[in-house]
Amino acid sequence: MQNIYSNIIKFNSKNFNKIIKILKKGGIIGLPTETVYGLAGNAYSLKAIKKIYKSKKRPKNNPLIVHYYDFKQAEKDVFLEKKFFKIYKKLSPGPLTYIVKKKINSRIKPMVCSNLNTVGIRFPKNKIIRKILKKINFPLAMPSANKSASISPVHPEDVSDEFNSMIKVVNGGPAIIGLESTVLNLVGSASILRPGKITPAQIKKILKEKIKVFLKQDIIKSPGSLKKHYSPNIPMFLNQKNCPKKYAFITFGKNYPVTRNSFNLSRKSNLNEAGKKLYKYLRIIKKRKFKKIYVAPIPYKGIGYAINDRLKHASSK
Ligand code: TXA
Ligand code: MG
Repeated sequence: MQNIYSNIIKFNSKNFNKIIKILKKGGIIGLPTETVYGLAGNAYSLKAIKKIYKSKKRPKNNPLIVHYYDFKQAEKDVFLEKKFFKIYKKLSPGPLTYIVKKKINSRIKPMVCSNLNTVGIRFPKNKIIRKILKKINFPLAMPSANKSASISPVHPEDVSDEFNSMIKVVNGGPAIIGLESTVLNLVGSASILRPGKITPAQIKKILKEKIKVFLKQDIIKSPGSLKKHYSPNIPMFLNQKNCPKKYAFITFGKNYPVTRNSFNLSRKSNLNEAGKKLYKYLRIIKKRKFKKIYVAPIPYKGIGYAINDRLKHASSK
C-alpha cells in the first residue's frame, strides 16, 4: 500500500540541505513553528509567493507574514522603532507578529503585503525553523499551511491532508501552542488585530499604554480577514451546556461526562492545553463526519480570548 504521508520528511542533515535547496530555488515547503505549521517560501521571490497564494487559494488582498531569524535581518526591509525593540527584547522569538512600515528599498515582493506599505513580521521560536532561517539569506513568507478559510494545521499530517503530496512537510511533531500568533499593529497607536498566546496585558505592561483589541466584530482591520475562517465547515453552536448524543460536543473542565461524542479540551481547565487541542479536535470531528458541533463555554482569560475568537470565526456562516 502506498504511504499517503510519504511527503513528510525528517529534519536531519541530508534533508536540511534539500530544504535549503527547495527554498533557494523558489519552491515552497511546509515547516513547523511553535504556533501552527506554515507554508514557507522566499519572500523575495515572486515565483515562490505566487505558488503560496495559488496552493492556498488565498485571496490576493490577504497579506502574508514574513519570518526572520532576528531583528538585524528584518531591519533591511522594515522600519523598526523604539516600541518594537521594547517588546522584541521581552517577547521575541515567540508567537508574536508585528505590523510595521515597509522600507521603500525593501526586497519583499509587494504581493506578499497585498501592495500595502506595511508588513507583518515574526521571529518564530521553534528550533527547526530557526536553524533554517539562520542558514538562508532571505526571509520566509509563511501563512498557515491550510487552504484559505480552513483549519490551521498543528501536525505534519494535517498539512498533507490539506495539500497534495507534491508539497513536502518537515516533521516537527505537534505544534506546542496550537493557535496562530498574536498580531500586534505598531503603526500608529498599538493595537491587537488577532488575539493569541501573547496577551494585550503583556504588551500593555511593556509599553505602558492602553492597547486596543479588535475582536471578531471589527475584523476588517486586518486586511483580507474573512468572517468565516479557521472553519471545519460544519454548523457550530457556541456556549452550550448540553449536547445531543449524535453531535460532537467540545467541552472544557471536569463537569462534563466522558462519552463517545465528547471532546474535552482540558479536564484540568487549563487554557493552554485547550489552545493546543482545539484544531486537533476540529479535524478529528470533521474526519468522523459529525453533522453539528456544540461547544461548551470557554473562559475569557489569557489564551481563552484567542480560543473564543477562533471559535466565533469557525462558527460564522
Ligand atoms: O502563527 C502564525 O502567525 C502562523 C505561522 C505559520 O507563522 N501564520 C499565520 O499566517 O497565521 P496567516 O497568513 O494564516 O495569517 C496572517 C494574518 C492575517 O490575518 C493577515 O491579514 C495578517 O496576519 N497580516 C499580515 N500582514 C498584515 C499587514 N501588513 N497588516 C495587517 N495585517 C496583516
Ligand atoms: Mg491562516
